[in-house]
Parts: sequence; C-alpha cells; structure tokens
Amino acid sequence: MLKISIRILVIFLHLVLVFIHESFPKHWIVKTLPITFTSPFQPNNIKQICSLISEESSKEKNLCLTYPNMMVSIVYGAKLGLVECAQQFKYERWNCTFNKSFPKIMTNHLHEMTTRSVKETAFLFSIWSSGVVYSITNSCSKGDLKECYCDPQRHGQDKDNVGDFTWGGCSDHIKFGMKVSTIFLDNYDRKDQTGQALMNQHNNRVGRRVVWKTRLKKCKCHGVSGACSLRTCWQRMNDFRRIGDMLKKLYNKPQKVTYNPFQKSLTFSKNRFRRPSKKKLVYIDNSQDYCIQDPSIGHPGTGGRECNYTSSQHDSCQELCCHRGHLTYEMVVEENCDCKFFWCCEVRCKICRRKVFVYRCKHLE
Ligand SMILES: *[C@@H]1O[C@H](CO)[C@@H](O)[C@H](O)[C@H]1NC(C)=O
Ligand SMILES: *[C@@H]1O[C@H](CO)[C@@H](O)[C@H](O)[C@H]1NC(C)=O
Ligand SMILES: *[C@@H]1O[C@H](CO)[C@@H](O)[C@H](O)[C@H]1NC(C)=O
Repeated sequence: MLKISIRILVIFLHLVLVFIHESFPKHWIVKTLPITFTSPFQPNNIKQICSLISEESSKEKNLCLTYPNMMVSIVYGAKLGLVECAQQFKYERWNCTFNKSFPKIMTNHLHEMTTRSVKETAFLFSIWSSGVVYSITNSCSKGDLKECYCDPQRHGQDKDNVGDFTWGGCSDHIKFGMKVSTIFLDNYDRKDQTGQALMNQHNNRVGRRVVWKTRLKKCKCHGVSGACSLRTCWQRMNDFRRIGDMLKKLYNKPQKVTYNPFQKSLTFSKNRFRRPSKKKLVYIDNSQDYCIQDPSIGHPGTGGRECNYTSSQHDSCQELCCHRGHLTYEMVVEENCDCKFFWCCEVRCKICRRKVFVYRCKHLE
C-alpha cells in the first residue's frame, strides 16, 4: 500500500516538474551556450542555433536564417558576456556557476536564473545584452557583416572642448550594435508585460547604455613638428573588461522595484511614485545566499570551493564557506628553481618541491 502511494506521489511530482519545466521555456541564450562552450564554435553550427531559437518564435527564426553571420556574432557576444560574468564573480558565492567541464550544471542553473527576478538575474541580462552590442559592433568595424560597417555619422568636421577636429578612420557603429541587441534580447520579453519581463528589458537597456557611456574618443595629432594643429579622431568602445567592471558596480548597488499591475510598470519599492533610474540595475525579489546546494535553482552551493585563508573579502574562508568551516589540504607543487644560464643559449633549472596549503569549503554535514 505504502509502496503504491509512494509511486503515485513520485508520478505526481514528476508531472508537476514536467509542468513547471514546460511553463518556462529556456531562453535562447541558455540553449545556445552548450554549443558555444563544448564545441569549437563554428559558423556551420548556425542551422542548429536557428532551430533552437525557432522554438520560441518564428520571427526570431526568420531573422536568424536571414542574417546567419549576424547570428554567429550575437551568440558569440552572449558567450563573451558569460565569460566576463565568471571573471567578475570569481571570488563570490554566486559565480555564474561558470565551469566548462560541467556545462549541464551551468546551463541548468542559468536557465533557472532567467526565470527569476533577483539581482543576479539583473546582472546576467545586462552583461548578455552588452556582450551582444560589443560583439556586433566589433563585427561591423571589422567588415565581417554586410549589414553594417563603421559609423557613417562620424565623418567630416566636428568640435569638442579642445577644439576642432576631423572624424577619420573607422568609428565603431555602437548604435547599430545596440539596435541588434534590442531586437534579439528585448523582443524575447516583449510578448508579455509581467514584472519579470519589464525587469529584464530594463536591465538589457542598462547593459547597452554602459557600452555607450563608456565609449572612448581616440585622437591623433598632425601638424608641423608635433604641434597638434590638426586632429583626426574616431570613436571606440571601451575594453569589455571595463564594461564588466561598471556593471559589477551597478550590481553592488541595485534598485529594488515592485511591479505595478495597473500601470503595467515598475516602481520603486519604497516609493511607488518613483520610476527606477535608467542608470541602475533593478530587481524584484531578494536573492538567497547560494551557500548550500539548492535544487530549486540548480545551484550546487559553495561546498568544495577553494577559499582564501588570509583574505578578508568575499573569497575569505568564513564568507565563501558561509561559516560552515573549511578543510585544509597540504599539496606539493613542483616548480623550477636554481636556474642557471649556459652559454649560449640554454637555461637549466632544478625542480624544487614546495608544500602549499589549499583551503576548501566543507560541504554541509
Ligand atoms: C569544475 O567543477 C569541478 C567539480 O566541482 C572541479 O573539480 C573543477 O575544478 C571545476 N573547474 C573549474 C574551472 O572551476
Ligand atoms: C563556481 O561555483 C560553482 C559552485 O559553487 C563551482 O562548482 C565552480 O567550480 C565555481 N567556478 C569557478 C571557476 O570557481
Ligand atoms: C588571498 O588573499 C590575499 C589578501 O587579499 C592575497 O594577497 C592573496 O594573493 C590571496 N591568495 C590567493 C591564493 O588568491
């Protein structure tokens, strides 16, 4: 009797899980990640990518098939965003679960995150949308896409606080990248006007805005004997690392918002007459602490993570291991030492062994 009711319960739970799973289709970025991480990414994966995207909507599939090279660049941009996410959160409990050897854990967790409204979701969407701007704009400048090239508006004479200058060379067509990023990311959420969808669109815009706001103007001086009487300038995006730094700063100071179902808009949680700032990342729900394994969000917890015994930052053993304690491992590392130079041209070294301690967070007992 007990056995049968357990079996019924299992079947029931299975159905519930299937239902939950069905009600949140995977975001196309999450679907394409395993392809971009496991195989060397090649343009001929594009058919596969388009068919993954098409499950969402035929509109996106048509775009995908019409602009295959652009699609390659878009998917590459999303990957760029995720790699930057891993770099920015390397020392924190939540690290985008970036682990190439376990793409399944990574994609499952990222899928769960895209269905939530926490500040980590905000960061992910902003870094993905800025990654797409970055990648598309770079492809334009390199002449890889037939749909775009350098910014046609940056030409001729212009003026800045130093004086007159001439636009020359190739200026990054950032606005074009922003447009493509909007089409491919915001459209995904435009279908429904839930709080979550509005939050994603807001954070997508923040990501794009950061690429625009951190752009640089590079100039070269011409003129007799170094006098800067003539200047030629061009517009460049900043390093993607700087864009990541900026978004990480915004992640540290996000704005909490509430969905207002009557106006179909987001307002400040503390003051429902204020709209969130377009400069800030927004979130609706509070995050969990990511300390222990949590199957509901596919997060493995921090058990087994390497922590820093001497640090007082996020990577300290206390904070990373959530005060569960850590285990100390003694390891022997081999390295070159006593190197001597022999004429000519050889360096011979001895191999020295050195003991080091490695600290790893305990799993929950
Ligand atoms: C990926 O995870 C496995 C198991 O948790 C770990 O052994 C490996 O070092 C991780 N790789 C990276 C790059 O963190
Ligand atoms: C990120 O965190 C996850 C889970 O805590 C861990 O498995 C993975 O190895 C970490 N990745 C890196 C690069 O440290
Ligand atoms: C640990 O943290 C200290 C202080 O922040 C730093 O100097 C050191 O390089 C870190 N060690 C490792 C292995 O990351």
